[in-house]
Amino acid sequence: MNKVERLMQSMTLEEKLGQLNLVTAGRMITGPTVGGDATEDIRAGRVGGVFNLWGREAVANAQRLAVEETRLGVPLLFGLDILHGHRTIFPIPIAEAGIFDPLIWERTARAAALEAACEGINMTFAPMLDIARDPRWGRIAEGPGEDPFLGAKFAEAKIRGFQGGDLSQRTSIAAVAKHFCAYGAAPAGRDYAAVDISDRSLHETYLPPFVAAVAAGCAAIMTAFNSVNGAPMTSNRALVRDFLRGKLGFDGVIISDYTAIAELIEHGVAGDLVEAAALALKAGVDMDMVSGAYLRCLPEALSRGFVDLGDIDAAVDRVLRLKQRLGLFDDPYRFASETEQDKQASRELALETARRAITLLVNRGVLPLANELRHVAVIGPLANARADMLGPWSAVGAAQNCVTILEGLVAALPRADIRFHEGVSIAGDDAEGIAPACAVAREAEVVILCLGESASMSGEAACRATPGLPGRQRELAEAVLATGAAVVAVIASGRPLTAPWLVERARATVAMWFLGDMAGRAIADVLTGRINPSGRLAVTWPHDVGQVPIFYASRSTGRPPDADDPFTSRYLDLPTAPLFSFGHGLSYSRVELTNLRVDRNEFHAGENIEVTADATNAGKMATEETIFLFIRDRVAIVARPIMELKAWAKAMLAPGETKTVAFALSSDSFSFPGEDFAPVIEPGEFDILVGLNAERANLLSVRVLFRDSAGDA
Ligand code: NOJ
Repeated sequence: MNKVERLMQSMTLEEKLGQLNLVTAGRMITGPTVGGDATEDIRAGRVGGVFNLWGREAVANAQRLAVEETRLGVPLLFGLDILHGHRTIFPIPIAEAGIFDPLIWERTARAAALEAACEGINMTFAPMLDIARDPRWGRIAEGPGEDPFLGAKFAEAKIRGFQGGDLSQRTSIAAVAKHFCAYGAAPAGRDYAAVDISDRSLHETYLPPFVAAVAAGCAAIMTAFNSVNGAPMTSNRALVRDFLRGKLGFDGVIISDYTAIAELIEHGVAGDLVEAAALALKAGVDMDMVSGAYLRCLPEALSRGFVDLGDIDAAVDRVLRLKQRLGLFDDPYRFASETEQDKQASRELALETARRAITLLVNRGVLPLANELRHVAVIGPLANARADMLGPWSAVGAAQNCVTILEGLVAALPRADIRFHEGVSIAGDDAEGIAPACAVAREAEVVILCLGESASMSGEAACRATPGLPGRQRELAEAVLATGAAVVAVIASGRPLTAPWLVERARATVAMWFLGDMAGRAIADVLTGRINPSGRLAVTWPHDVGQVPIFYASRSTGRPPDADDPFTSRYLDLPTAPLFSFGHGLSYSRVELTNLRVDRNEFHAGENIEVTADATNAGKMATEETIFLFIRDRVAIVARPIMELKAWAKAMLAPGETKTVAFALSSDSFSFPGEDFAPVIEPGEFDILVGLNAERANLLSVRVLFRDSAGDA
């Protein structure tokens, strides 16, 4: 008998339910303490894990209660939301996704895991894998953007990074992929809202990152708050028990979201907490985050016959096995340690990541800033907004570690006279600063206009029906533009921010998202041309919220938009195209793609196709280019999206250099979810489209033919 089996045999019902009980140490703002109540519960064996508690002393104290003072000495899990860094803060995920580099995604997760593991954390509620196509939804900031293929690659890299090769290493932490599933499909971008979507869109768009997470060995998965087609995910048997457990064979721990089991009552599927607990357990949810429903109500659910002991044992077994995989039974005080070198490496990684996440949206010749500039104005409420640089979900990050935009520019332009004026506050109703800010602008050769959102305007429960510039920032921007100054607009935000008038009139526009600790240094490096920008949009950037949802992989209609034909799928008052496509992002170079070719024009199942193209840097700076490959299935029994991302490649190009970039596509890349959502490839023609972003008109294309084994096409 192994340790877990032995424990299971000696546990009382209450001790078993304790293992399923995940409690919070209180809101993070109150600091890392376990409240008195939790302390008593831990001692009594009624707690399986604690989150929002970190730091050697606090964690060791809580662990001591579990290991030394409970009857069976089962150690606790310690969880925390580590979305983009633990103490060292990296760019928010939507920005980091835009680097399109799995190695960076993995390295930042590894660095965060190491820092967290030093403070006793052994589990993180990350990666967040919700595909999101609506900038109103605040949580678009936390995930990999709009595309399922990108989301799947992001999932794999993050899980490798957090978990390392072996969970029992002190530097590894368990990843909890979230939120399963379709949380990002919230209608009108309203957080927690009921989702109603087709099975096809579930299987094509929302599930692939989770399928990838399971295949990558993710230790745990969190169910989402929302319902899907009427069934709350916390009690969704079809998706959690049958699909995730049954079809994907996931045997790790499934954790509810915060109080979500109790919320089944409010959803309207449970009459009381006993029913709620039973529904969640029966659906396959192992751990109850915060609602206490399992602990308090599963005994009653047992006696009412809603659940049986086997259901409880299966959940407890999974939790104990996770603890075993983490090595907690042998090493409950499992603190990693980091060297000065590790800390330095983390800071350097934060700088590299921040530089590479910046997305240059428009440049009308004003960037990079000229070396000889003497008078620079830095204006706007984000210019010196230290704490906001952290962005949402900044874990243990600290404002004092952040470099502001102003500080970055002052350091990068030592010979320039830099004048700063905030102008207005981020979201307030103050306008007195507009006139003095304009006076500063008039004196300058260039104005760096730093606008956007505060850190708390994206993330959970931070949705915006009108995701433009908040407060009176538009007034400030219009006034500064009216001075005739050369304006570089720098937008800090957790979402694509709709301000087309600004993009149109500024001489350059840069999306800086929330870049974390090194924000100011990174943006200064890009603005001054020390670094050639290379970030790409992981999400389509609309003109206006009225275009939402808008994403590159839409389906055609019988009447595709045609400017000359009113009876086509279009608007009277806005273009159908976005302001910036998925994949858009400029550099200070200009890369040309030519000579797209394939090593074969026909292929069969099991065969690979090699696709190559030549990329030439026609600019004067070395550049990192991201080259995207999409496919279009021209005729299929189910209409396929007009484009589907299947690969991307990077080319590092010196000025004037040409390199051949190669993509290997297996025949699986051409499959789609067919009957029962199992992958099929239909014989026939496919277009392979290659380019620098998803803007159709600029893609090179070549046609290939898939023949099935019978030779049909
Ligand atoms: C609620 C959020 O939805 C989830 O993402 C997070 O992990 C938990 N709270 C715990 O903080």
